[in-house]
Amino acid sequence: MTVHSTIEKSAAGASGGPGPVALDVVGMGKTYAGSGAAVEAVRDLTFAVRPGELVCIVGPSGCGKTTLLRCIAGLMSPTVGEVVLEGRRVDGPPEGMAVVFQEYGRSLFPWLTVSQNVELPLKDKKGIGKARRRELVAEALEAVGLAHAGEQYPWQLSGGMQQRVAIARAVAYEPKVLLMDEPFAAVDAQTRADLEDLVRSLWHRLGVTVLFVTHDIDESVYLGERVIILSSSPTVVLEDVVIDLPDDRDQLTTRSEARFAELRTHVYERIQEAKRGHRPAAAG
Ligand SMILES: Nc1ncnc2c1ncn2[C@@H]1O[C@H](COP(=O)(O)OP(=O)(O)OP(=O)(O)O)[C@@H](O)[C@H]1O
Ligand SMILES: [Mg+2]
Repeated sequence: MTVHSTIEKSAAGASGGPGPVALDVVGMGKTYAGSGAAVEAVRDLTFAVRPGELVCIVGPSGCGKTTLLRCIAGLMSPTVGEVVLEGRRVDGPPEGMAVVFQEYGRSLFPWLTVSQNVELPLKDKKGIGKARRRELVAEALEAVGLAHAGEQYPWQLSGGMQQRVAIARAVAYEPKVLLMDEPFAAVDAQTRADLEDLVRSLWHRLGVTVLFVTHDIDESVYLGERVIILSSSPTVVLEDVVIDLPDDRDQLTTRSEARFAELRTHVYERIQEAKRGHRPAAAG
């Protein structure tokens, strides 16, 4: 059996399988109606994510990844179709969801300390007293290796540290679903590797459902249990690939495995096809 057919076979079982669903994206499309011509960014996306899964999303630049995440986060409405979170249609920012945006610099408040930044969203959560808030903040900062930095201001920290504050803020919130939109695009390669391992260890520990958007193919294969490959805009799902690497991943060992190379080559080839405008026959 060839490498390609092995991957195709596993991909066939990736979506729509039986079992509980945390997040259901059903026939979702988004057309931006601006002052000029309307832009059909996303045409038809359908996929399901099981509770506790870590799913990566890759696709060419401008294919609608951020648009998809904003619709899932309830920050805007799809034009057609719907997003269903634990059985409830999303029509505004849902409780139990946290988002880590790419531009962490702009997502932290410079006049608040690190601890205050992490604590802020907790104040909107019902039934959490001050003492518990402090505890959650301390635990989250500890988890991202910033226990010592609570009293500092974001602008006193390096880019990688600021990104860890943004992750701590999401973690302290104890979300059921964590959305991450190219969160490591602006950090150096070494910090990026550390943050990838941090996400996998937090995911293991917290059992949270994670949807992770990246343009980095190796990162998607290293992190994900599945990689959903999107076509160029107007976007449809090109392929849903199961990443059948061992759960225990390590930057050196995992990335040097033959299976890792096969999977990354496959995803790379599909993205190249997507960039050339390839679409599934039924998608038009
Ligand atoms: N507010 C908006 N108004 C009009 N068009 C928009 C708006 N936001 C995004 N678009 C368009 O929708 C398409 C998808 O944009 P989106 O930001 O979702 O892509 P992306 O996959 O996240 O890109 P990148 O990889 O560069 O982050 C693009 O053609 C973009 O120009
Ligand atoms: Mg984007």
